[in-house]
Amino acid sequence: MNILSKLFGRSKGKEEAAEQSFPIVADWSFLHTDMHSHLIPGIDDGAQTVDDSIMLVEKLQSMGFKSLVTTPHIKSDHYPNTAAIIQQGLKDLRLALAERNINIPVHAAAEYYIDDHFMDLLEAKDLLTVTENQVLVEISFLVEPISFHDILFKMQMAGYRPILAHPERYGFYHGKPDAYRELKNRGCLLQLNTLALTGYYGKPVKQAAEKNLKDGLYSYCGTDMHHIKHADVIYNMMSSGILGELQRYPFLNSKLQQGLL
Ligand SMILES: [Fe+2]
Repeated sequence: MNILSKLFGRSKGKEEAAEQSFPIVADWSFLHTDMHSHLIPGIDDGAQTVDDSIMLVEKLQSMGFKSLVTTPHIKSDHYPNTAAIIQQGLKDLRLALAERNINIPVHAAAEYYIDDHFMDLLEAKDLLTVTENQVLVEISFLVEPISFHDILFKMQMAGYRPILAHPERYGFYHGKPDAYRELKNRGCLLQLNTLALTGYYGKPVKQAAEKNLKDGLYSYCGTDMHHIKHADVIYNMMSSGILGELQRYPFLNSKLQQGLL
């Protein structure tokens, strides 16, 4: 029985165990859409050149993804991107893909770091959405923002639905078993980074991700792909047996195609 079988709490008969001793799925196509990545060249810490972007998109396509929502950072101190910069970058990326006959729908939103600039954009209701009213946000890895729950409430009062990126990576939540459920109960959707399940970010992050899966707290799964190293680890997950279990989880990713395509 692999780790995720244990997580999902099923015991298997001999026949089922034999059937699941090999990966059930060969790729990530069960998700359909990857909704967290950094593929637009030169505007954040993801792809730096058009060639990087093309290589990463081709990797995602080869893994079975059918559609992409890329989410450049918007963080006033480090990545002062705007909707206009992202839209122009998306246009350029689509053109580069078309020139190479790479056919995969690519859309863009953003991964907003919660800071004063974000609060200004929220006030102006000027946020890019992953789909409909859903906005991908991230927070400091060191400390929960002051009044984070109030900020989540403000977002919802403004008509947005927050998606918290990679909640398993925030170490300050690891010792607080109820923190994730509380976020979910407050209307915040939670997005798993696939890499977390490999131990890429360390054991405590892996354990937090596994616990959140077991507790059924995630709504989305994203690669958070920045560079080739991420691509290789996510590619190798396809032969690890993890995907066979993960595909049973009710992620909303496949629903995104309805709103986007
Ligand atoms: Fe990200």
